[in-house]
Amino acid sequence: MNPIMKSKKFIVANWKMNPQTAREAVRLARGEDANNVIICPPFPFLSAVGRALREASLGAQDVFWGKEGAYTGEVSAAMLRAAGANYVIVGHSERRRFLGETDAMIAEKVAAGLKERLNVILCVGEPAHIHKKGMKSAVAHVKRQLSLDLQKICIPLSRLFIAYEPLWAIGSGTPDTSHDAARMAVAIKNHLASRILRLAPRVLYGGSVTSKNARNFLQCKELDGAMVGGASLHSNEFRTILSSIT
Ligand code: PGA
Repeated sequence: MNPIMKSKKFIVANWKMNPQTAREAVRLARGEDANNVIICPPFPFLSAVGRALREASLGAQDVFWGKEGAYTGEVSAAMLRAAGANYVIVGHSERRRFLGETDAMIAEKVAAGLKERLNVILCVGEPAHIHKKGMKSAVAHVKRQLSLDLQKICIPLSRLFIAYEPLWAIGSGTPDTSHDAARMAVAIKNHLASRILRLAPRVLYGGSVTSKNARNFLQCKELDGAMVGGASLHSNEFRTILSSIT
């Protein structure tokens, strides 16, 4: 059984391709080490960060679907577990955009991560031109991503998290409103509960979350937490975000 309580708020620190050295990574991790946190460093720093953590969980930023073999540059779910990770981010928009990850590839990654008993954080979100058309179009886009990205899963899984990260909000300094993020979270939960998983997964919001706006998202009952990029690279800023849970 999954030990995680449904009402708990989660904060994912998505460090992306930062910091530059293992030493800095360990220092940053120590400054962010708290119960509700999932720290996701680059692959080479996973083990060192994992050893430094006492309370936070360790996550990776990507996974490959194969178990072993001739896949140059890739890392399997079992390797992530061996490095100490319990979580993995899958389908981040930067990977979809810069690495050409397709929904078919993401579906394989989600399935591989869950099979290895990792908690999978699947990222979805609409681009700016769809956002401009309104909520209905944004919800339709996200539902389509969910259907494609979860096509390899057929049983209810408590280890699945959805990170709603509108593309126009990531790294832009312009977050979504908590009102619209909450509406999207409800749409995602209803969609998955009725159509695919028969289980409402936890939904996190990501995209320009900072110490100034975190409270809006973390106090929102429809959202189960936040995914933080840029602001997770500064322990003080991150600690203030954490403090807005209570
Ligand atoms: P940001 O990134 O907080 O820097 O906008 C969020 C993310 O990409 O997960």
